Amino acid sequence: MFSRRVPHDLTRNRLTAAVADARDRGRRIIDLTATNPTRAGFVYPPDLLAPLAAAAALEYRPEPFGVRDARAAVAADYRRQGLTVSADRIALTASTSEAYALLFKLLADAGDEVLIPRPSYPLFEHLASLDLVATRAYDLEYHGMWSIDLDSLTRAVTPRTRAVLLVSPNNPTGSFVAARDLERIAALCAERDLAIVADEVFADYALEPDAAASASRASTVATALTFALGGLSKSIGLPQVKLGWIAASGPDHLVSDAMTRLELMCDTYLSVSTPVQIAAAALLDRGAVVREQIRTRVADNYRWLRSALAAVPACEVLRCDGGWSAVLRVPTFESEEDLVVGLVTTAGVLTHPGYFFDFRRESYLVVSLLPPPSEFQDGITAIARHFACRSATP
Ligand SMILES: Cc1ncc(COP(=O)(O)O)c(C=O)c1O
Repeated sequence: MFSRRVPHDLTRNRLTAAVADARDRGRRIIDLTATNPTRAGFVYPPDLLAPLAAAAALEYRPEPFGVRDARAAVAADYRRQGLTVSADRIALTASTSEAYALLFKLLADAGDEVLIPRPSYPLFEHLASLDLVATRAYDLEYHGMWSIDLDSLTRAVTPRTRAVLLVSPNNPTGSFVAARDLERIAALCAERDLAIVADEVFADYALEPDAAASASRASTVATALTFALGGLSKSIGLPQVKLGWIAASGPDHLVSDAMTRLELMCDTYLSVSTPVQIAAAALLDRGAVVREQIRTRVADNYRWLRSALAAVPACEVLRCDGGWSAVLRVPTFESEEDLVVGLVTTAGVLTHPGYFFDFRRESYLVVSLLPPPSEFQDGITAIARHFACRSATP
């Protein structure tokens, strides 16, 4: 009865079952996978969402790409980041995930392929399969810092490839796409008629400032059709407000053809609510106080993590240039799945295993930098203790 776009095996994985079981038994679990900013102890001004109640939103005037002022507000937000993007080239969406769905429909037919970074955000596989698009991975390599293996990217291109997905900074490696790499990828895409889809949702959260400075943003690409993605979910910590965007750049004729087609698709769904469009400028402005708190939190947790684990040889903190997560390389005594389940049952700490993000080797743990410092520090201390005990066991 059901399509194969949705996975057939919907049973809970062992980790989810272990957490549910521990909680049922009243055990406190420190959640180092938490990435919901609205439940991480930040102070949101109580009237932050007041602009959503503006009387202007009582009138419905559908615009496929969103009302002019809202698109101009997103263009102004790019200016805040030192980038020039025309409001004409911005399409509003309900989220970045919806932006992916629109772009997959725009660029790919069933069975076509998009290239995705490995390791990266697990939702790509799922988003692509919901649109009958296949994914092929290109590798990120770690050598004191992460970088794109451009040869693996070139090798991954086939006649069915339609787009290259870039995530900058990437989740979970925290790596920005370096300016020189973006230039080479744009040249490859221009030559092969591929589009670039660049997810920049974490662009505001640089942890190592020199890395952000040597990166370049997708909206500067002039040679290949490029779509930069962003949204309120991460930029001001409001995932529930449901506002994202696509900013197109590249050769004028391609941008114009793409925008005409996107307009038809956006007109079909009209999924962005009028209140959020009317409120967009005020939210982007008022939300800066939340962004600042998140910035401070992730930077402080990252700094603490590096210094705390510097004394624990078993746990190496990989360099993380930006974003909301960090990666720990840990010894392999067992499978990653056994490790993360064991951390829940014995240490009371929930982490993500590297294989969720398609790390090619074991063993890695991914931790969120978002939890309140005391919780974060308790969780990391418990992990360090777990490995110190294991290393001491002959
Ligand atoms: C890299 C990346 N892109 C997109 C998203 C989803 O963003 P949105 O809430 O706008 O769909 C996430 C969420 O964690 C993410 O990590």
